[in-house]
Amino acid sequence: MLSGKTVIVGVTGGIAAYKSVSLVGELKKQGANVHVVMTENAAEFVTPLTFEVRSGNRCIKDMFERNFEYDVKHISLAKAADLIIVAPATANFIAKAAHGIADDMLSTLVLAAKCPKLVAPAMNTAMYENPATQANIKRIKEYGFKVIEPVKGLLACGDEGKGKMPEPDELLQHVLLEIAHEKDMKGLSVLVTAGATQEPIDPVRYITNHSSGKMGFAIAHAAALRGAAVTLISGSAALATPLGVHRIDIRTAAEMHRETTTAAPDADILIKAAAVADFTPVATSDSKIKKKDEVSMSLPLKPTKDILKEIGLNKKEGQIICGFAMETEDLIENAKKKLQAKNLDMICANSLRDEGAGFAGDTNIVTLITKDSVRELGCLSKLDTAHRILDAALDLRKAFEK
Ligand code: CTP
Repeated sequence: MLSGKTVIVGVTGGIAAYKSVSLVGELKKQGANVHVVMTENAAEFVTPLTFEVRSGNRCIKDMFERNFEYDVKHISLAKAADLIIVAPATANFIAKAAHGIADDMLSTLVLAAKCPKLVAPAMNTAMYENPATQANIKRIKEYGFKVIEPVKGLLACGDEGKGKMPEPDELLQHVLLEIAHEKDMKGLSVLVTAGATQEPIDPVRYITNHSSGKMGFAIAHAAALRGAAVTLISGSAALATPLGVHRIDIRTAAEMHRETTTAAPDADILIKAAAVADFTPVATSDSKIKKKDEVSMSLPLKPTKDILKEIGLNKKEGQIICGFAMETEDLIENAKKKLQAKNLDMICANSLRDEGAGFAGDTNIVTLITKDSVRELGCLSKLDTAHRILDAALDLRKAFEK
């Protein structure tokens, strides 16, 4: 997701510097050209050679180093950078950035660069909470730096509290959110539903389905990467909330109905990937239902409300509504019927019979159906499928605006 991007990782003198080695590896895996700039103190924790091996580029530490190609390095790197992330950032680095001090390569480069700048403070809790550090953090935020909050945990000094640098994968997510994608959905509000609902039978049992939530979460993630304001209403799904996404957890189809119909009027684009139960028990027992030997049991069920249909029939002008159809037979025909019956702009049809499609996997095979087109996307990762769905939703919006 970062091919063609140049990322500078600034490393200052803290024990968390070892985690930045993995961050560099993760950025490389995403295709970024990574340059590491260290302070003298950082080199006490991790050697420049480690970063050079990981980044494949010379690690820069000394302002006045002589033995490599001649250019004004702090300026050329500042110009080349698509993003700078300083991780870990000491209290001293933050203080310098807050006051425009440029007394080494990293602080000089940061002052010279105009690209987005992320800072991940990592220090002892007392240092972090010190009013001077807090004032400096406030100030750098005002200057446009994005500050990645440290997390709570056992610190190197033995204290327990806030001050730990988040794990490399979380830092990577911040980088991706900034520069992985063109912000072509900025200003749009996107509502996504995902995961399986659970209909309780008694305090122990419930009716549900196999939905993992992966497709809906991928759509929410992709929309956030593209700059949309994203709300994700999620049923049961053992997945981390994508960065930049506002998540509302629900359990039952009735809760999904309540939250979705409340949020729907404010959405420009609605994508309903959730697997909502079509039936729920007529009554939920307060106590565990005991088995009775040799007596068969039947469970009376009543239909739930069709949320998508209700939203489709009450659609606001200009709103784009997209549903999903998971079928085992007559995929296109059944999906087209749902498109029409629920008054949708688009439906994403996928067949449970196709290898590479379905609930738990990381790929999907979707056919995008609108009122006048049927387009097969082929087997793609769920994130790529999500981007294609959003592309199509944007095209429908543009067609409407014309
Ligand atoms: N859906 C919904 N509310 C329901 C049931 C489904 O909003 N109570 C939405 C799903 O989120 C999905 C679309 O409707 O976007 C189609 O869901 P699906 O289960 O494929 O179809 P159903 O309409 O339930 O029809 P059937 O189960 O008979 O195939």
